[in-house]
Amino acid sequence: MVIVAFSGTPGTGKTTLAQAFARKKAWEYMDLGQYAKSRGLYDSYDLSKRCYIIDTNRLNRDVLSSIKPGVNMVIDSHLSHYLPSNVVKLCVITTCSVLKELERRLKARDYGPQKVRENLDAEIFKVCQIEATESGHKILVLDTCQLSTKECLEKIEQELSK
Ligand SMILES: Nc1ncnc2c1ncn2[C@@H]1O[C@H](COP(=O)(O)OP(=O)(O)OP(=O)(O)O)[C@@H](O)[C@H]1O
Ligand SMILES: [Mg+2]
Repeated sequence: MVIVAFSGTPGTGKTTLAQAFARKKAWEYMDLGQYAKSRGLYDSYDLSKRCYIIDTNRLNRDVLSSIKPGVNMVIDSHLSHYLPSNVVKLCVITTCSVLKELERRLKARDYGPQKVRENLDAEIFKVCQIEATESGHKILVLDTCQLSTKECLEKIEQELSK
């Protein structure tokens, strides 16, 4: 069983890439945020930020017990790098080096100014990348402002074959 996690700031291209990779490899795809919501694995809802507050320890326990042995999986979410590094073969971190482009992507989703600002700050401070590294993951950073999805897929294949 191989698990590849896709994390990164919202709007940087996790889902686009994770779904393309899962399709190409015919692996199982999991949207971890949706999974957490559907299983009621959130503690509360932050009305001002319009987002769920998720207990990642609870989420990890639940996800790990649901994984079918022998099934390769793609796990998509900015929460996926909280999964233990010993079960994740590779943690892909999507980035968007052109902040104006990320701002455009976030605004296109009707995010309010505060949510756009917070996500841009998360990207500037490389929050997901640093957390993933600190958790001991083997990471591959892919800039979706510079690379096409096809080029990103090739880099993932190269990394996995090392
Ligand atoms: N390699 C790429 N080149 C150009 N545009 C891209 C690329 N990857 C993603 N995009 C565009 O960026 C936008 C955001 O992509 P996507 O929804 O995959 O991000 P996300 O990281 O999954 O966001 P969220 O965390 O909110 O789910 C989409 O409009 C998508 O078309
Ligand atoms: Mg997504």
